[in-house]
Amino acid sequence: MHGKVSAMPHGPLRLFQLSDIHFGAEDARALTWAKACIAREQPHAVVITGDLTMRARYREFRAACAWIKALDVPVTVEVGNHDIPYFNLYQRFFAPYDRFRAIKKLVDTELDLPGLAIVPLRTTTRAQYQRFPWSNGWVTDKALAECLAAIDAHPQGTRILVAAHHPLTERRERDGKLLTINGTRTMEALAGRGVMGVLSGHIHDPFDLTAQTPAGPLRMIGAGTLSKRIRSTPPSFNEIVIDGDGLRVEARNLEHVATADMQIQGVPENAEPPRDPGEPVAPVGTVPPSDLPEH
Ligand SMILES: [Fe+2]
Ligand SMILES: [Fe+2]
Repeated sequence: MHGKVSAMPHGPLRLFQLSDIHFGAEDARALTWAKACIAREQPHAVVITGDLTMRARYREFRAACAWIKALDVPVTVEVGNHDIPYFNLYQRFFAPYDRFRAIKKLVDTELDLPGLAIVPLRTTTRAQYQRFPWSNGWVTDKALAECLAAIDAHPQGTRILVAAHHPLTERRERDGKLLTINGTRTMEALAGRGVMGVLSGHIHDPFDLTAQTPAGPLRMIGAGTLSKRIRSTPPSFNEIVIDGDGLRVEARNLEHVATADMQIQGVPENAEPPRDPGEPVAPVGTVPPSDLPEH
């Protein structure tokens, strides 16, 4: 476990975690508001936990890259399952991240702030031999090894946040359905290293849960969406304040819904609006009457 760092000579750090903007299905009003918040409040960093686009189309990436490049603060971007070419199979397999070219330096890049490192963890893969479709997460052995090596490169006492697209929960609680392959082992490894939290997207509803692992507890923080593809909460982003060893999450939204009413209490399979009994629904219950088309 990392040691205490509360004696470090700096004040609280403030991050904005944005996720699932899905250019092509973005919520223009929510996006304008989020951008204004960033410009006005100047957080120490913006962490974007994947699904920048709807279908990884060139025009969607152009809009996403222009929006991100205009932000005047440090930014890191994770790759989401929607950001890999879907229709162009050649690109999907041989140059899956080509369309990120304009923001290449920001993708899967560690951000180092005073006393805090934000370390990327890749959960998106081009293909999965275990199943089809490939929209859910898979932490490959290589991805986990890279993340752990990046964490281990820091001196003891450095506070670590891990940024990924998919929540790491391996099995859905109500029926044991497979969600993120290799998630359980990853969570245990991260808890064993004392990481402060894992930031993820993909679900389109915010959450702030603590999972128990054999190596200790692991905080799992999910951000909502800034797109029109809402699940059970209005568009939102997370404000995360790190003060000493403490970490506070606020699910900020244009509707003025309190954070506790925005957060779901379990990790569902994906961003589809809840239709089955037993699926986690946020107390605010903003469930759209019909599902938005995937494409
Ligand atoms: Fe998404
Ligand atoms: Fe996703």
